[in-house]
Amino acid sequence: MKVAIDGPAAAGKSTVAKNIAKQLSYVYIDTGAMYRALTLAARRQNVNVQDEQALAQLANDVTISFRYREEGQDVLLNGDDVSHAIRETDVTNHVSDVAKHPLVRQHLVAMQRELAEESNVVMDGRDIGTYVLPKADLKVFLIASVEERAERRHKENQEKGIESDLEQLKQDIKRRDQIDSEREMAPLIKADDAVEIDTTSLSIADVTHKILDLIRDVN
Ligand code: C5P
Repeated sequence: MKVAIDGPAAAGKSTVAKNIAKQLSYVYIDTGAMYRALTLAARRQNVNVQDEQALAQLANDVTISFRYREEGQDVLLNGDDVSHAIRETDVTNHVSDVAKHPLVRQHLVAMQRELAEESNVVMDGRDIGTYVLPKADLKVFLIASVEERAERRHKENQEKGIESDLEQLKQDIKRRDQIDSEREMAPLIKADDAVEIDTTSLSIADVTHKILDLIRDVN
């Protein structure tokens, strides 16, 4: 069973995907974390995020992997846990530039397809239903207004004690969506056969249940 969950930034994809994976004992694959890990490596090594060749070389040189634990998973860069570092603002603000390059995508998509072969998976990203797993058994496209998405992220930051500016978050989310939607290779777009769910006025639990129902219908 392959479940693809796509949608714009901060639409709740990863929280919902994690819940589903936990309930069904599927493997959760966070493809955004892979682009983020490569972006972190680029920033640490002063690789220009506009330099496609250098980024492709870097993607070849580094190891990005997941370590699965009872309560979730860690993202590893060359064996080091970078789960927190990849969520920092600097990475968030550069990741869409890294992810727009075809050579970078080819590399990470090959890894994602390989990971998906192994078991029942729920994979979230931007191009899972359209490009990474076009034959997925279920494709979901989650959307929510920019205001709602920024507010959710703002609340999350405040709860974690991270400094947060709502207006800035809105601008950052809009910019990321724009680069992700306008890139040439595998842009952010709903697959024709994806089920669209507007999560603006839904809770995480509501969305999780809706998708679990859809999975049951497929089976
Ligand atoms: O999902 P998350 O917000 O962590 O993704 C970070 C960035 O990685 C996205 O804004 C996008 O630029 C890129 N990405 C992508 N394709 C995916 C997943 C993420 O281009 N399948």
